[in-house]
Amino acid sequence: MTATQSLPQPAPRIARFENLAFGMFIHCGLYSQLGRGEWVQNSENIAVEDYARLKDTFSAADFDARAIARLAREAGMKYITLTTRHHDGFSLFDTRGLSDFDAPRSPAARDLVAEFVQGCRDEGIVPFFYHTTLDWRWGSKTCSDERFEEYLEYLNASVEVLCRNYGEIGGLCFDGNWSRKTDWKEDRLYATIRKYQPEAMIINNTGLENGGVVGHPEIDSTTFEQDLPSRPNRAGWPKYVAGEMCQTMNSHWGLGGRDFDYLSPADVIQNLAACRKVGANYLLNVGPTATGAIPEYETATLRRVGQWVELHGAAIYEAKPTDIQCQGRDFVLQNGQRLFYFAHDLSRGGSAHVATAGGGNGPRALNRLQIPIRGARWLDSGETLSWTQNLEAGIGALGCTGYPYGSNLVVRVAEMEAG
Ligand code: GLC
Repeated sequence: MTATQSLPQPAPRIARFENLAFGMFIHCGLYSQLGRGEWVQNSENIAVEDYARLKDTFSAADFDARAIARLAREAGMKYITLTTRHHDGFSLFDTRGLSDFDAPRSPAARDLVAEFVQGCRDEGIVPFFYHTTLDWRWGSKTCSDERFEEYLEYLNASVEVLCRNYGEIGGLCFDGNWSRKTDWKEDRLYATIRKYQPEAMIINNTGLENGGVVGHPEIDSTTFEQDLPSRPNRAGWPKYVAGEMCQTMNSHWGLGGRDFDYLSPADVIQNLAACRKVGANYLLNVGPTATGAIPEYETATLRRVGQWVELHGAAIYEAKPTDIQCQGRDFVLQNGQRLFYFAHDLSRGGSAHVATAGGGNGPRALNRLQIPIRGARWLDSGETLSWTQNLEAGIGALGCTGYPYGSNLVVRVAEMEAG
């Protein structure tokens, strides 16, 4: 057996997940009304009873699931992960008697998860459920072991409600096991999911400090929170596990009314490329307003990014990492006979009176290039590109041209036909 043969292959659900490539994360909850991040209850030491009063003003009046799913589609995103319940313990779904701390029992009087799933279906987006395991109402960080058992019952029952009432979902993403070193009884929780949602991805955030760590055998993807992923060496892994990076668009997951530290479309494009370089998905967060609308800046940024993704879709969703080596941040993905060269830092053309040249153009070297190339062109313009290759030596070069005046794609992708 060669080293390649011994690499695990992805199960169909994991392969499908990787092809979704780009997703929207939504942190929506009672905290959205305060606009000081989703950890506000904890960071401002707000008593559970005081915080709970936010339920009385939770209207979700502008939560339009169809519009959110449409925005995701326009951004080139293929899935959305919604906080069905976050650390504050408030559920956006009908807990069916498990608790009265849920959206149907607030002034909103709606099951927002049901609306979310429907909105996604209507727009061809795959719905994923985020569910916390750390629950401040249960003090699950500090509560006695006896109460913890009871909490785990409640957690399991809540997840069962999510698995049984909303049709087929893309996956469940847990978050909070990092808060307490204990036996979270993952076997049981994941068995509940597999029973009702056999094709769902199971993900459990390993936290800021532990990006890429492989957990329980049922887990289908590693997580990279706020951190660019690296390419895993899967040799010897008992199963193929995907990778996903989640990232805030400013510095909070829930609405940050006074947070001005935003990613730009260029940042998002570069991060999406960096994730795909290593075969990971990119889950980009938005924090809706007090009433559940996606804020203007996020909306505009996502639409702008969507225009880039539309030009480069052929290289984003199904193309996989290769071992071809490139200069700088450049890299090559492959989908069958199509290779995609991701070029960074290209020069910009135009009169010296108006344009700053920036970056470079000309030949960019490729190493470990074992596939014969027949032609190359920019995906965005169709302009053909020159290339050279020495197949025996496994080297080549792609004649990258810079951006003509009037464009700057940040990352530009060339398709190289193999064969
Ligand atoms: C962290 C935070 C949380 C956020 C999550 C997103 O674990 O506790 O607020 O939901 O990351 O992945």
